[in-house]
Amino acid sequence: MNAPPLMVVQSYSLPEFKKLLETGATRDGRDMYAQGSIMGIVAREQLSHLTDDEITAVHEFLQKGWTIERAALEEAKIATFPPPTFLKQ
Ligand code: HEM
Repeated sequence: MNAPPLMVVQSYSLPEFKKLLETGATRDGRDMYAQGSIMGIVAREQLSHLTDDEITAVHEFLQKGWTIERAALEEAKIATFPPPTFLKQ
């Protein structure tokens, strides 16, 4: 889907991250919803329902707990996931 590595969140302040999750606007002002990006749609329709505490918790995790090593570990799990139900016969 061309989603960038979540390491990029380390450059987001909490207010910038809150705006990203609520509106789909990046910290450099790109409006992903206006551009028709899935991230903009997910932000406006789903991530905008997160509470301030939830946004703070995700931001803290992505700033402190998310490393290149952790990303590799999590991405390696993808190959072990069952196929999505819409692909089952
Ligand atoms: C809490 C959940 C999520 C977080 C924290 C998150 C975070 C981010 C961040 C930080 C970016 C980069 C913004 C930038 O360019 O500065 C991004 C882009 C993107 N995300 Fe998400 N995202 C989340 C959920 C999702 C979901 C559920 C999807 C897909 C269904 C998704 C798909 C994408 C895509 C495709 C991009 C690139 C869009 C573009 O550049 O136009 N994200 N996301």
